[in-house]
Amino acid sequence: MSQGTEEQLKEKVQSGYILESPDEMTEGYRKALIVQLTVQGDTELISAPAYWMAAQDAPSTNTQVSAVAIIQDELAHANIAYRLLEDLGVSQEKLLYGREPHEFKHPYGFDQPLENWAELVVANGFFDRAGITLLGDVFDNTSYGPLKRALVKVDLEENFHLRHGENWMKRLVRLGGGVREKLQRAVDWMFPMTVEWFGLPDDLKRHSGQLDYRLKGLTNDQLRQVWMSATVPLCEKHGLNVPAHRDEARQEYVLDYPFPCRYDAEAKRWLFDEGEIGWDEVFERWKARGPMNEVYVESVRRSHGSLRKMIAA
Ligand SMILES: [Fe+2]
Ligand SMILES: [Fe+2]
Repeated sequence: MSQGTEEQLKEKVQSGYILESPDEMTEGYRKALIVQLTVQGDTELISAPAYWMAAQDAPSTNTQVSAVAIIQDELAHANIAYRLLEDLGVSQEKLLYGREPHEFKHPYGFDQPLENWAELVVANGFFDRAGITLLGDVFDNTSYGPLKRALVKVDLEENFHLRHGENWMKRLVRLGGGVREKLQRAVDWMFPMTVEWFGLPDDLKRHSGQLDYRLKGLTNDQLRQVWMSATVPLCEKHGLNVPAHRDEARQEYVLDYPFPCRYDAEAKRWLFDEGEIGWDEVFERWKARGPMNEVYVESVRRSHGSLRKMIAA
């Protein structure tokens, strides 16, 4: 196929056409796919040191082994996204070493310290669920064939991470007392963190290249609803408080706090009392990155050689 115009390609993919090779892409399509895959690869990559930090608090050797298995999966997932980027002419070495830590494109939620086992399992329950929500939509809708096929393996493993999180959340709730409190504390900061992760609400973001090029199918608000429709009932089932509920009349989940709002990263606390803020302020916080940004990026760079071996294993 000759490349044609951007508009022709948009029309073609909207009617179901699947691209199989970079030769078929227009410049606009290629750029939008590069952004999508970079976010995907960086998120997988940085989840590894974040989960590793929390795995230090594993309750036993066995449980630490299960956390390490998850970390190994995440590194392999990062490698899948970076390999697809190499096909588009983006060097993996440059991605890893040619950027400052703040230039990585993982969400702000993965710039936070995960300090205990409760935070790891809530990350599996919430963050991996967000990953499944986002990548599940990409799988269902993407117009790029090689990515669709690669996501089959990723999805299977992400579901394993999610089950790990959900099962452990159940166990920690049953233990009660201080353990349960730790879990609730993790839910308190990680629930709004994941809600924010899905980005600008649809009434502020009408246009998306990723939707036009059929690199995804659902809007930010739709994805947020999909995530909440699994996560709110999960927490309610275990008697964990979440600041959101289902509104039967509106047939959707609604937030019980000002959104978006300020976050005190030091205290790991959302400042609901200070009310709703503008998205400009959220973007500023994201751009400044969170407390663990440099530590996490440097740790994956330092261990790159051994990471390679882990990925190849
Ligand atoms: Fe992953
Ligand atoms: Fe995962």
